[in-house]
Amino acid sequence: MENNTVITVSNVTKTYKLYKNGAHRVIESFSPFRKQYHQPFDALKNVSLRINRGETVGVIGRNGSGKSTLLQIICGILQPTIGQVNVQGRISALLELGAGFNPEFTGRQNVYLNGSILGMQNEQIDEHLDDILAFADIGAFIDQPVKSYSSGMYVRLAFAVAISIQPDILVVDEALSVGDEAFQRKCFAHINQIQESGGTILFVSHSASSIVELCNRAFFFEQGELLLAGEPKRIVSYYQKMLYASPENLQLLKDEWAEMEDRFQLPDVDEDENDQQESEKGLVDNDFGQLVEDGLEDFDQGLRPASTVEYESHGATIQQPFLTTLEGKEVNVLRSGDHYFYNYRVDFEKTAMRIKFGMLIKTMKGIEISGCSAPFFEDSEKVVKAGESYNVRFPFQCLLNPGVYFLNAGIIGTLDGEETFLDRKLDVAMFRVREKRHLASTATVDMVGQPEVELVEI
Ligand SMILES: Nc1ncnc2c1ncn2[C@@H]1O[C@H](COP(=O)(O)OP(=O)(O)OP(=O)(O)O)[C@@H](O)[C@H]1O
Ligand SMILES: [Mg+2]
Repeated sequence: MENNTVITVSNVTKTYKLYKNGAHRVIESFSPFRKQYHQPFDALKNVSLRINRGETVGVIGRNGSGKSTLLQIICGILQPTIGQVNVQGRISALLELGAGFNPEFTGRQNVYLNGSILGMQNEQIDEHLDDILAFADIGAFIDQPVKSYSSGMYVRLAFAVAISIQPDILVVDEALSVGDEAFQRKCFAHINQIQESGGTILFVSHSASSIVELCNRAFFFEQGELLLAGEPKRIVSYYQKMLYASPENLQLLKDEWAEMEDRFQLPDVDEDENDQQESEKGLVDNDFGQLVEDGLEDFDQGLRPASTVEYESHGATIQQPFLTTLEGKEVNVLRSGDHYFYNYRVDFEKTAMRIKFGMLIKTMKGIEISGCSAPFFEDSEKVVKAGESYNVRFPFQCLLNPGVYFLNAGIIGTLDGEETFLDRKLDVAMFRVREKRHLASTATVDMVGQPEVELVEI
């Protein structure tokens, strides 16, 4: 296991000196008695982590939580104030916009500048130049100064250079979000290639779905501290819960997490792959209950999500949701193609208006498949009174292939003139789809029929 580790960060603290103004910085440097005119500020606090070869690790956290600082320390662009970093292999980075490029130079000159920063000789860059230009696809702009580029053009070029050295470790800080969709798809396809060839990726993003889709592990930073690490869907849920917590509950949440035994789950790539295969086969291990062997049962007691996250209630409470057949029989093992209801009851503790009832179906990996957020009343101004309760049911046809799926529930309403989530629960229920509608159907959603094949007469 030890020689599989490609990045080790040991007890790293990064302290900046914050000055009230520029003059204090100068006065301090000349102070004969070494009087301090600065406030120390820890952008990273005693961070330790390990990343294995072949892992794709996502880093999430609020603005200013220390993500970019960590990445820059791992890339060797910043030095830690305390602690050590050890990196095995060739590392290439796509850092925040502005890093690594000289705005006065043309794109072409910057390719050489950036390539040399990444450790390439000019001849090597010559060799790769056509590929770099083709990937960046910015046409004649390559000979314009970079300061005239849009942020999308800039990132195209930076990504093209970063991947041209075929890195063992690719570090990407947020940057991809400024590219257009077609380019992002191209970058993600390339990231997949690096993953498949056993490369390691460290990836900062504010996009929860990118983290869940791409990564096998996620790190959650808050105010310079590594708060939690583990399975991406779970870590992203905690992160989102923190984003919506009131200030007084934030500390309670942190205290609760500090007590968790599996606060820093260790990497285990192989196990994750097994999970994926299991879910693809539609088989579910003991984490989720017993297998339905004969295909006849339609309620499995063991199907209870372990990843439920309940947000603070702000005036309404959603009672435990459940699925039923159209006849009202409770089920959680579904047949592909059949029609069902997703039901919950809402108790309103506060008077609110413009109510919308929501639901979402997600895969095991957290990918959002289908949702609904609908005003319940024809008169959207209708006021729901404190003390009232409503039963809600969403009809749906199960067009999913065999596998395990998770459900969210949420209520949006207007309280004191402001639209807010009155209640919200993630992974509050789960179900399994046990048989296929079309035998030939692949992937997640079963919406394509049998192909019609006709011999072409020549
Ligand atoms: N050169 C610097 N001098 C002083 N403080 C700094 C410096 N660079 C970063 N910081 C501070 O360190 C903290 C962490 O910054 P960092 O850029 O790592 O955050 P981040 O998590 O990447 O945020 P974002 O999501 O906005 O990109 C912030 O409070 C920032 O203001
Ligand atoms: Mg950043």
